[in-house]
Amino acid sequence: MTSKYLSIASGNNQLVLANHFGSVQVLHWGAKLSPDEQFDPSWLGQVRAENDSDIPGPFGLWRENSRGHTGRPSLIAHRAGLDFSPKFAVVEFSQTEERILVVGNDESTQLEIRSEFVSVGQGLFRVAQKVTNLGEGDLVINDFDCWLPLPVRAVESMDFGGKWGKERQPQRRDIQFGLWLREGREGRPGFDHSVAKFAMTRNTDFQTGEVWALGIEFSGNPKYGIEKTPTGATSIMAGTLLLPGEIILGHGESFEAPTALAGYSSEGLDGITSVFHEWIRARQDHPTKIRPRPLTLNVWEAVYFDHRREKLDQLAEIAAEIGVERLVLDDGWFGARRDDKRGLGDWFVSSEAWPEGLNPFIEKVNSLGMDFGLWFEGEMVNADSDLYRAHPDWILHVGDRVPPEGRNQQVLDFTNQEAFDFILESVSKVLKDHNIAYIKWDHNRILVDPAHQNRPSVISQTKAIYRMFDLLRERFPGLEIESCSSGGGRIDLGMVQHAQRFWTSDMTEALERQQIQRYTQMAIPPEMLGTHISSFTSHQTARSLHLNFRGITALFGHAGIEWDVTQATTEERTQLKQWADYYKRNREFMHSGRYVRFAQPDDALFISGVIAHDRSAAILAYVAERTIDASTAPSFVIPGLDLGRLYHVRAAFPTGVPHHAKLQPWTQGVTMSGSALANVGLVAPLIAPESGFIIEISAA
Ligand code: DGJ
Repeated sequence: MTSKYLSIASGNNQLVLANHFGSVQVLHWGAKLSPDEQFDPSWLGQVRAENDSDIPGPFGLWRENSRGHTGRPSLIAHRAGLDFSPKFAVVEFSQTEERILVVGNDESTQLEIRSEFVSVGQGLFRVAQKVTNLGEGDLVINDFDCWLPLPVRAVESMDFGGKWGKERQPQRRDIQFGLWLREGREGRPGFDHSVAKFAMTRNTDFQTGEVWALGIEFSGNPKYGIEKTPTGATSIMAGTLLLPGEIILGHGESFEAPTALAGYSSEGLDGITSVFHEWIRARQDHPTKIRPRPLTLNVWEAVYFDHRREKLDQLAEIAAEIGVERLVLDDGWFGARRDDKRGLGDWFVSSEAWPEGLNPFIEKVNSLGMDFGLWFEGEMVNADSDLYRAHPDWILHVGDRVPPEGRNQQVLDFTNQEAFDFILESVSKVLKDHNIAYIKWDHNRILVDPAHQNRPSVISQTKAIYRMFDLLRERFPGLEIESCSSGGGRIDLGMVQHAQRFWTSDMTEALERQQIQRYTQMAIPPEMLGTHISSFTSHQTARSLHLNFRGITALFGHAGIEWDVTQATTEERTQLKQWADYYKRNREFMHSGRYVRFAQPDDALFISGVIAHDRSAAILAYVAERTIDASTAPSFVIPGLDLGRLYHVRAAFPTGVPHHAKLQPWTQGVTMSGSALANVGLVAPLIAPESGFIIEISAA
């Protein structure tokens, strides 16, 4: 035991723990304090209300009920109904550099609990927790979560709703008394996954307000919560939902909960976004450090299952003319997969669809200067497949029951080593026999009865997919993997360490995409999110959108095309080429700067984009999602630049000028200070709804 107070910092995020009153307390989580701070136990003081029967606390880190805490404990476990209420004595409270370790031991329940807080830099802490069964009987763990207390001024929360094609729609709520619990039981994070859960001060917007964020680094069943107990104490939680009996510990066994990342920013939602982005970007193997994100064409919306060599050749040729750098062959190339009813599991090239095999086409793609990507959905199997006929018992299931099919398919049990190895080897063979730079790995259904030998297995299934990706990348160095799950159903802070790209949404229609991208980027940087231009009339919504708007929307991510460009007019192809050039010229900047969102007073309008960290430049998209209320376009301001610096400002139109545009003279170029940009602003051009333009800003 070294000190009564231990403190670590990460960016402008400080965590101070105190060892007082027989337990460890979070004394502070938030803005960085003075280095000379004199911590004092009175910071924790609580005054009991008159006639209040509650026990006032302060309660410890693990929220044990045995101390009188009436909220949800961090650990809920028992031995056949006994030993359900530990009271941990602190046996270690130590610090090495930017790591704090707290260990608790309870003699009565024979349990040990460890919580480790590590500064991982860029404003984030990682919280790793472990529980060990030191007793004799089996310990059943129901919940083991990371909880951190919030200050009383955190009065609002934000998480997400969502469905197929409409992922991550924000929902903000006042934090009220009680528990606001979000649980996912899909065996994947899901379309409504919050990536991280946010708590905020009143009226927090993109630029202002304090934000506390907690995100789980795991792709299984997520669990997020915010609880305000009758004492007024409010806390935020992240964890993984444990199915009944999923974790049972024998004597001496331990369970390590998935780690959580805790972030803080005093600069609003953009501030907390930047914390996550910069942490992800600091990794050694972050994809942009390997190569600039290649402009991609995925053939799915161009041909679906109709793989004809002549048509695909044509697509490849036009793609190359446009400047595409990677062509991805989607679903339909293998086994009997001529539609979505059969073939999943049989990962060999179909001689029906590809009589000469894939190699001649790949060679053609490569000779056109593009690398080649291929689609897999390795965790899945159709009943109508050689694999299922041979091994019907390899699916996740309970007893003799076959789960209901989802998209005509079942989920393979990857905890079953044989099934895992079979898929690893089949996929490896395809990768060995072909020149494949990239795979899009899909996951098109939820898990129902997710059991290995009748025991719940979401956690082991999730760890297995990480292992699969890691093994494939080990076997095929340089291979990139895109995580797709019917679009954005598996985008999370766990998968971010195993996949290099996410398919943001099957919704490729630009208007709907605006909002999906805006919030998926809350924690995932744009260079990891696939953003593709699709056809004039959307296959998802049947809405028709001009190339101007589609291009601007697809520019702010890992850009690509998802459109039968053989049907594009010559003019459209010319514009696509201009757009491709624009993307390539600016991608390094757009994939490294600070992502910003400026909500406009008329909410038909929105500005978002990237400002350089040294504030020397910005590339922003100004979009009109609907018609505006006023008859003339309002002015807009751009905060966040150096107030005293002069900037050149102009508009750019990489995919053409918006329809009915009444352009202002400044769009040709104007010089003004950062202060004028932030306080006076510019009058926007009047543009048609569902259109936009780029604002380019560079230091004079
Ligand atoms: C769902 C994906 O999100 C689509 O992009 C496409 O790959 C299909 N699956 C293929 O079946």
